[in-house]
Amino acid sequence: MTTPRVLVLNGPNLNLLGTRQPEIYGKETLDDIINQLRTQALMAGWELVALQSNHEGELIDAVHAARLDGTLAIIINPAAYSHTSVALLDALNTFDGKVIEVHLSNIHKREAFRHHSYISSRADGVIAGLGSQGYQAALDAIIATAKNA
Ligand code: DQA
Repeated sequence: MTTPRVLVLNGPNLNLLGTRQPEIYGKETLDDIINQLRTQALMAGWELVALQSNHEGELIDAVHAARLDGTLAIIINPAAYSHTSVALLDALNTFDGKVIEVHLSNIHKREAFRHHSYISSRADGVIAGLGSQGYQAALDAIIATAKNA
């Protein structure tokens, strides 16, 4: 049996986690979050591939690659592209697996322009406001759903 794979995509400015507005986004770095997720994935027998990019096209290319390489699920924090990117939504609409959208902060408690996410219309689940625990909950859900499929 091939090892099931999950792709974790993080959008613009999330490379600055830890020092970027820690009162909103927390003190953990993106490496901290990804390392924890990788351990969680490994313990369940999954492979985790992670990409952070400040460039919309690079995130889209990663989704296109995931369509073809057997990736079962995508966890995505599109960051500001949530609120602007029809192109990223269109790319995700070509992906057949599970998609879970994660936001560290509760976007609904913040400025009005953050309340709408283009990505949510494709996402199977949306988690906002749980900080890094949101990514862990998303991965748990993906692993549990695949087990029960
Ligand atoms: C974010 C929320 C977005 O509105 C913002 O642009 C981000 C991060 C979050 O994780 O809370 O960069 O996606």
